[in-house]
Amino acid sequence: MDSLALQTVPNPNGAYPLSKYTNILGTPGLTAFVGMEGLIKGKEEKTLFVSSGASSVGSLVIQLAKMKGMRVIASAGSDAKVKHMQSLGADVAFNYKKESYESALQQHGPIDAFWDNVRVEALDAALAYSRPHARFKICGTSGTDNVPHGNRYELKNAYQIMKKRLKIEGFLVPDYIPEFGGRFFQEVPALVAQGKLQSTESTIGETWDDVPQSIINMLVSGHETVGKPVVTVANV
Ligand SMILES: NC(=O)c1ccc[n+]([C@@H]2O[C@H](COP(=O)([O-])OP(=O)(O)OC[C@H]3O[C@@H](n4cnc5c(N)ncnc54)[C@H](OP(=O)(O)O)[C@@H]3O)[C@@H](O)[C@H]2O)c1
Repeated sequence: MDSLALQTVPNPNGAYPLSKYTNILGTPGLTAFVGMEGLIKGKEEKTLFVSSGASSVGSLVIQLAKMKGMRVIASAGSDAKVKHMQSLGADVAFNYKKESYESALQQHGPIDAFWDNVRVEALDAALAYSRPHARFKICGTSGTDNVPHGNRYELKNAYQIMKKRLKIEGFLVPDYIPEFGGRFFQEVPALVAQGKLQSTESTIGETWDDVPQSIINMLVSGHETVGKPVVTVANV
């Protein structure tokens, strides 16, 4: 499959609304699926920590890790998002604004695998509370995206990379589409239709004027909106 080719996603008997394409059936879903297939082996990496576990990508990472038989620790920035992560199957879910990453991983780790959507203190704590040879998948940096370079959090535990012989790999979704994209389009829509994989979209408006607020809801940390905010400007 050409990595950037347009795909037609099957929608068995109209089993799900088009808003799913902004989330589990769109780029976030594809990112989580191909990343998990390409990077995380599963059971033998017993405990996975995923930062921003209530994000679109993180929500599917939790569910796929549970399907692979892993124990999942997940973090997010509000109590509503903690409940959401628990509903997706996270074994340990915590609000990083109330409990530090370090304290949560000290209590519930060590971890064998880390899916990072955030960077900052999440990555530092994962470095400190991971087992030797743990695998780190660096997917995103939402914790620094809006912070000027000079003010960004500096890692303190990078020395653990050598000491623990950690395997750290960044990736961009097109890297794995040739290998796993086809399976995403075959498997994930069917699992969504069967109710075996979930995603949450919250309709927050119906005009173009609602779009800026929806983007703020999505990107601002700790917002009470759970799931992908969707503005439906027309029904066709
Ligand atoms: N590698 C790739 O090819 C690829 C492809 C797509 C997406 N991504 C990345 O994957 C990540 C998730 O994407 P998405 O579309 O699922 O995200 P999303 O649904 O837009 O969620 C973004 C979340 O980031 C969290 N956040 C913002 N500032 C934060 C901070 N200072 N500390 C911790 N969390 C913070 C917020 O959640 P809280 O309320 O929980 O803080 C926010 O809701 C992003 O980093 C994105 O850039 C990578």
